[in-house]
Amino acid sequence: MTEHVPVMAGEATDSLKLRPDGTYLDGTCGLGGHGVLIASKLDGGRLIAIDRDESAIERARDVLGRFGSAVTFVHGNFGNLAQILDGLGVDTVDGMLFDLGVSSMQLDSPERGFGYMAGGPADMRMDRSAGYSARNVINETPEAELREILREYGEERYAGRIARAIVRRRLEKPIESTGELAGIIRGAMPPEGLRERQNPLRRSFMAIRIAVNDELGELGRMLEAAPDRLSAGGRICVITFHSLEDRMVKEAFLSRERGCVCPKDFPVCVCGFKQTLRVVTRKPTIPREAEIEANPRARSAKLRVAEKV
Ligand SMILES: C[S@@+](CC[C@H](N)C(=O)[O-])C[C@H]1O[C@@H](n2cnc3c(N)ncnc32)[C@H](O)[C@@H]1O
Ligand SMILES: [Zn+2]
Repeated sequence: MTEHVPVMAGEATDSLKLRPDGTYLDGTCGLGGHGVLIASKLDGGRLIAIDRDESAIERARDVLGRFGSAVTFVHGNFGNLAQILDGLGVDTVDGMLFDLGVSSMQLDSPERGFGYMAGGPADMRMDRSAGYSARNVINETPEAELREILREYGEERYAGRIARAIVRRRLEKPIESTGELAGIIRGAMPPEGLRERQNPLRRSFMAIRIAVNDELGELGRMLEAAPDRLSAGGRICVITFHSLEDRMVKEAFLSRERGCVCPKDFPVCVCGFKQTLRVVTRKPTIPREAEIEANPRARSAKLRVAEKV
């Protein structure tokens, strides 16, 4: 069951400390759930709504249409945040929100190939104009690399067996559909793996999706660029669903809070790093139990917030 309700909506929008006349960026506008909450608090302000999925932008256009020219839509990748803002002639914004991962629309559309329940082509591209899909990952990646993808991004215990089974099958003929992929993964797992509480396909599908979309790479590029594009006092809020992502966000925030990394006995700073952020959430905020009950996808969500100094 997936939901259209935005995850940690209240927590995230409160953390942004919205000013009615401010300029805000929603880097993952998706179905516009968070976007509506932001835009409805604006009066004279602006929302820049980005998504790398063209069909999400189409949906968001419907949902956010009533806010007229207060909302600017961009089909783009938040990894290119600086270029996107340059293109709009915007120097800094007063807040940024990123709600990572896939939307329910993507998961529930069989033709997109994200869902292990839905069936469809092995695609999983968030941006359908991109040239690299799940077909490429599963049919072309060397076995050792495939194993690492499954192990690292999916924390899949049976990564070795699954990678081997994928490679064996593709020698016969290319793997084209999520149904075939699901069958291969199931067939490679020992009975105890299939008996786990979570769907045994979940981890592998997530890992392949992360690889197809270079999700960690894009997150890294965004975290690198974002602090420079925030105005003083502006906040960056990131909701993650994966421990690797959460760690990246935590470390990026901390290193920008720490600033100078020179040894204490250096008379002057030679590293040149200056503090640019202050961490607002020492520990990540997690959804309340009631939200998790209503929306199971929220279970693994973590919100981290930092403020530009
Ligand atoms: C969890 S959904 C966001 C849902 C949205 N907050 C809402 O309330 O409707 C994540 C969205 O982020 C988009 N996305 C993921 N990585 C992206 C990236 N690097 N750049 C831009 N959009 C991205 C996906 O296409 C997807 O639509
Ligand atoms: Zn220094």
